[in-house]
Amino acid sequence: MDDALRFSEATELLYQGRKLDGCTLTPESPPIFMTTAFVLGDLDDVHRTYDEKGYTYVRTRNPNRTALGDAISYLEQGKFTLLFNSGMGAITTTFLTLLRPGDHMLANAHIYGETLDVINQLLIEYGVSVDLVDFEDLEAVRAAMKPETKMVYAEVVSNPTDHLADIEALAGIAHDGGALLMVDNTFTTPIAVKPMTLGADIVINSLTKFMNGHSDTLAGSITLHDEELYEQIHAIRMLTGTSGSPFGAWMIQRSLQTLDLRVRKQMANATKLAQALENHPRVLKVNHPSLPTHPQHQLAMKLFKNTDNMTAMFSFEMPDDKEKINAFMNRLHLAHYAPTLGGTRTTLSHPMHSSHHHVPPEELEKMGISYGLMRVSVGIEEGDDLVNDFIEAMSVF
Ligand SMILES: Cc1ncc(COP(=O)(O)O)c(C=O)c1O
Repeated sequence: MDDALRFSEATELLYQGRKLDGCTLTPESPPIFMTTAFVLGDLDDVHRTYDEKGYTYVRTRNPNRTALGDAISYLEQGKFTLLFNSGMGAITTTFLTLLRPGDHMLANAHIYGETLDVINQLLIEYGVSVDLVDFEDLEAVRAAMKPETKMVYAEVVSNPTDHLADIEALAGIAHDGGALLMVDNTFTTPIAVKPMTLGADIVINSLTKFMNGHSDTLAGSITLHDEELYEQIHAIRMLTGTSGSPFGAWMIQRSLQTLDLRVRKQMANATKLAQALENHPRVLKVNHPSLPTHPQHQLAMKLFKNTDNMTAMFSFEMPDDKEKINAFMNRLHLAHYAPTLGGTRTTLSHPMHSSHHHVPPEELEKMGISYGLMRVSVGIEEGDDLVNDFIEAMSVF
């Protein structure tokens, strides 16, 4: 876009990543470079292309991934974005690149179960020591830093209990100790918050979720400012083969055109539904940062500015009664069980059996994940329809 003109992010987003490398025409919808390689002329051409970091083989670079990366860099306000075949691909490739035997990592105890598994199983086996701390207690985070701490890791809003990370404060602690702050923005998206503007060094997004938003593609990204780190992760992504497909990149770029519309409505719906459930006498607890009962509500107001701009994800606790929970689920017309999140339709998932199924019972208890805890990913339905449907279904209790 013309640098002299500045429009709102929602408008500019429609024009991001539209110019594909190697495409001389400007089609209204971009083509997909469904090719594993690009034809090169002679050895001079080969040398030039390698020197200029041009397009050779799909695992290394592809114009659709570049274009989507540019759009995500715009949204996250970072310099570089790398695309991966999944959110877990983005997380593991980044960890494997940046952490070495003898290094230490400090992570929030409240994070996605499979990220926890990578940290607790894979990283520890590779000789990286790990401490899991409740990041609500910033003094405990500071106290757990060690001279060999290389990375501090948190989710902006954690899966599934909506614990928040004070990104500015964590960046200060990480940087004072010479470590990088890596944050997962999957539950929030850059529509709600841009962690790099608050000091995060690396932002990971599972694009499978809100960024794609239609429950039909698996992908992930990391965004960062540092060119040297970008080159290192790029090289390991190429070796580990976690680059992601051109078709997936095209699908997500298509979806980004409606990201602002979708996510704003989803977040406002979540706030409305969380409030309605909190007022229901049989609901034991609701975890959503818009609620004044959320222990980090003040921090939420600072991070997200208003209650309709927080996250479209929340969880709520029903009595631990399988028959009644089943009856509730069967009675709902709109929300349905599907262990994913961020799609247009409201979905439920049971953290104990999905995102946190490997986590031992004593850890689950510490994390506030009970049998009656249901996670809700709120869709773009009319908010009142969702409230009516949930409240009517709660009559089984
Ligand atoms: C917060 C968070 N981060 C990362 C991931 C991993 O993403 P993917 O499923 O795209 O690998 C998930 C998946 O649910 C998630 O919830």
